[in-house]
Amino acid sequence: MSSVTAPTQALAANPLREGLEQERVPDASCLVIFGASGDLTGRKLLPALYSLAHDGLLPAGQTIIGYARPDYTDDAFRMAMREACDKYARTRPVDDAIWENFAKGLFYVQGQFDEQAGYARLNQKLQECDRTRGTGGRRIYYLAVPPQFFPVISGLLGAEKMVTDPEQGGPFTRVIIEKPFGHDLESAKELNRVAVSTFRERQVFRIDHYLGKETVQNLLVLRFANGIFEPFWNRQYIDHVQLTVAESIGVEKRGGYFEGAGITRDIIQNHMLQLLSLIAMEPPVAFEADPVRDEKVKVIRALREFPREHVDENAVRGQYTAMKVFVDNWRWADVPFYIRAGKRLPKRVTDISIHFRPAPYPMWRRLRGVQTQPNVLAIRIQPDEGISLKFDSKVPGPSVRTAPVTMEFRYATSFGAEPPEAYERLLLETMLGDSTLFARRDEVETAWAWLDPLLKAWASDPRPPDFYPAGTWGPEPAERLIERDGRKWRRP
Ligand code: BG6
Repeated sequence: MSSVTAPTQALAANPLREGLEQERVPDASCLVIFGASGDLTGRKLLPALYSLAHDGLLPAGQTIIGYARPDYTDDAFRMAMREACDKYARTRPVDDAIWENFAKGLFYVQGQFDEQAGYARLNQKLQECDRTRGTGGRRIYYLAVPPQFFPVISGLLGAEKMVTDPEQGGPFTRVIIEKPFGHDLESAKELNRVAVSTFRERQVFRIDHYLGKETVQNLLVLRFANGIFEPFWNRQYIDHVQLTVAESIGVEKRGGYFEGAGITRDIIQNHMLQLLSLIAMEPPVAFEADPVRDEKVKVIRALREFPREHVDENAVRGQYTAMKVFVDNWRWADVPFYIRAGKRLPKRVTDISIHFRPAPYPMWRRLRGVQTQPNVLAIRIQPDEGISLKFDSKVPGPSVRTAPVTMEFRYATSFGAEPPEAYERLLLETMLGDSTLFARRDEVETAWAWLDPLLKAWASDPRPPDFYPAGTWGPEPAERLIERDGRKWRRP
């Protein structure tokens, strides 16, 4: 069928960036990356920062300081980061002139996470940058470290007086933390308690990188910038919803972490609940941090607790996990949300599908060749980003025969530009001080509060998890979970 295309004048060099340049350049700050010798820094953070510089979105004077244990000079660090950008930056090949300018704001301070003298050296460097690069005392601390280091790092930042707050008359300090935000409710609360003993909640930016993905942000635009979807977005018209996060890779080098975490903790507690809450939330009163997050928390709070005695009918566990969940509120009462996530599946795909109720009256039922099928709105988060609507159409010819067809929107065709990486958007939002795309404390804790009973039930269950051969769509009980209800998993 037809595809949707953007007006030609919108096809500028990077239409997804239009308007950003004029409106949203942050004040220059010092971004300190704790754990700068680690994988995340080289694979994601520096490539994202370079791409922001490439697109003209970083302020002049923006400074990045790596802090880690290995003994690098500034130049050695720059060289390692250049290699990382050559490999991973979205905007490749790296432009020598842009890199040279970018690298002038790139420094390294050697130190241990628990070494007071290291923080003194870092502070000295920060103050020097304030003088030479105009960063005005503004700080962003990125904790690219395992969570057990949060307490010591935030404690020492506080002790060394490296945290200031505009409400107390100082420049801003913000801190970025990465998941896992705990492994259950207790540990999440403890992490949050540690964070707020040094920082105020509004200074804390918890990254769930799914919220930085263009297609995830587009869920809000699809639902609330268009008049036609909202009237159908409820139990009256929607039969059920499916969410799939499938990965073809395995647990790679993270077997140890996975033993304890499993896909439920790694993907469902955070990324999938974010997707689910964006699909199910009520319209926020404004596209601002608190109104948006208030509505998301309400969805998580409305999730029905897993009935202890019927866990198996509602959840299948392993390195593949499938669940049937309900959002117990006025809009969604009794509409099942089937969610599944797994590694080593046939392909990498993240997909949300809204399955509408069938037409109310089968007036075609006596005609051979007419088999109507429910409409499906499929939202492809990645790869091949796009949205499609499936509906029945008459097959051309003298008799009445029907076949399902799809109406498709594809980002690549309509906008002709590669969307920015999630980390680019999230780093920029932190510099701007907008926390709409970050998880708030109560969001994280409410999600754990919902999952805790299920995780406890599984932990005390002596049976092994449901295994499945690599490269298949998961264990057989996951099929039964949905087929029992007379429905089928969509093959995305
Ligand atoms: C991370 C998980 O949060 O998300 C990984 O810890 C997973 O296990 C990754 O592979 C998936 O991210 P993406 O962006 O590739 O879907």
